[in-house]
Amino acid sequence: MGNLMAWIDERFPATKMWNDHLAQYYTPKNFNFWYFFGSLALMVLVIQIVSGIFLTMHYKPDGAMAFASVEYIMRDVPYGWLIRYIHSTGATAFFVVVYLHMLRGLMYGSYKKPRELIWLFGMFIYVALMAEAFMGYLLPWGQMSYWGAQVIISLFSAIPVIGDDLTLWIRGDFVIGDATLNRFFALHVIALPFVLVFLVIAHILALHEVGSNNPDGVEIKKNKGADGIPLDGIPFHPYYSVKDIVGVVVFLFFFSVVIFYFPGGGGYLLEHANFIAADPLKTPEHIAPVWYFTPFYAILRAVPDKLMGVGTMGAAIVILFFLPWIDRCKVKSIRYRSVIFKVNLLVFGISFVVLGWLAMQPATEILTMFSRIFTFFYFAFFVVLYVTSKNESTKPVPDRVTS
Ligand code: HEM
Repeated sequence: MGNLMAWIDERFPATKMWNDHLAQYYTPKNFNFWYFFGSLALMVLVIQIVSGIFLTMHYKPDGAMAFASVEYIMRDVPYGWLIRYIHSTGATAFFVVVYLHMLRGLMYGSYKKPRELIWLFGMFIYVALMAEAFMGYLLPWGQMSYWGAQVIISLFSAIPVIGDDLTLWIRGDFVIGDATLNRFFALHVIALPFVLVFLVIAHILALHEVGSNNPDGVEIKKNKGADGIPLDGIPFHPYYSVKDIVGVVVFLFFFSVVIFYFPGGGGYLLEHANFIAADPLKTPEHIAPVWYFTPFYAILRAVPDKLMGVGTMGAAIVILFFLPWIDRCKVKSIRYRSVIFKVNLLVFGISFVVLGWLAMQPATEILTMFSRIFTFFYFAFFVVLYVTSKNESTKPVPDRVTS
């Protein structure tokens, strides 16, 4: 084995990569459970790619056959139902994990200098993930797939001058049809997974260049021993490679419960209307996107003008890219930040969840008013952060990690 490794190492940096990224990659010793979600996101990405490959072996990207091919996977392909539920539940799991991963970043200021690029790559991943999920949702060719895509693609027509042509170009037809299904299939199974994998590699390379933040927001590289190793650092492998297994087991428990007992999630994960084949002549009664898009959908619906609505919804996502520069406080972790920051973040989190719930309800007058109020709170988070973070009264940050 030793000779074989030496032979490989002379030709390919296998041991060097192992050491640089695992065995001699020093990570803060105080990671808590919030640090599980990065490795979990990585695992869900692999689950989605593998289950997606098996689905593609039986799925037909054709307007006349797509719906029936999914039914065929569910009933006739051995364990086809399992593969499909793994993939559909995996989409939800991906967003659960990524939202918690982003919340961790917000709490511990992980987007701040020198980690701005990690955050930016993360945001590009998030946008690519939304596109990936949106395109995948058209493929079963059910009523909600069809009409959901119809609503979202037609939003582009709000753009002045080029809007109508752009919509036509995206659809490839005057209505959503076979051409749309084919291109969404190509983008969903090849282009976007490729982009996602590339971005994840960039995300992790950027992370390993500067090193991880931690719940105290202390830079462990500032305190090194005589051997040049951070005093508060431990090698990622075996310490965190083993610890992360705890997260994996807990995750797989909940993932399995949903797959085997609640794959439809009461109509929230697989919507009822999507068990009916797409019918271009019949609009479903309520069209609402899947839960992970609903906060932004509520923001869209809160604004009466279509162009303004699309702009506000876009701004709600774009503003997140600028977080590293909006937050001007030097202290990273929420543990040592002011009450104003804590309350502001709490209100932001609550607004996001409430907006998500509001978009699932029929747009009555009173609920639309609430959507407007919580849209205001959503954006207020960034304004309050920008204004208060410069001279925030923070607690003293320890020199070393605390636990
Ligand atoms: C496919 C999706 C993603 C994968 C596979 C992924 C993977 C990872 C991994 C493995 C880590 C190191 C472990 C950890 O800190 O938890 C990490 C760290 C980080 N990620 Fe992600 N990530 C994803 C999406 C995102 C998104 C959407 C954002 C934010 C917009 C983000 C922001 C960050 C930040 C700021 C860190 C550094 C955290 C720290 O050092 O405290 N990631 N990511």
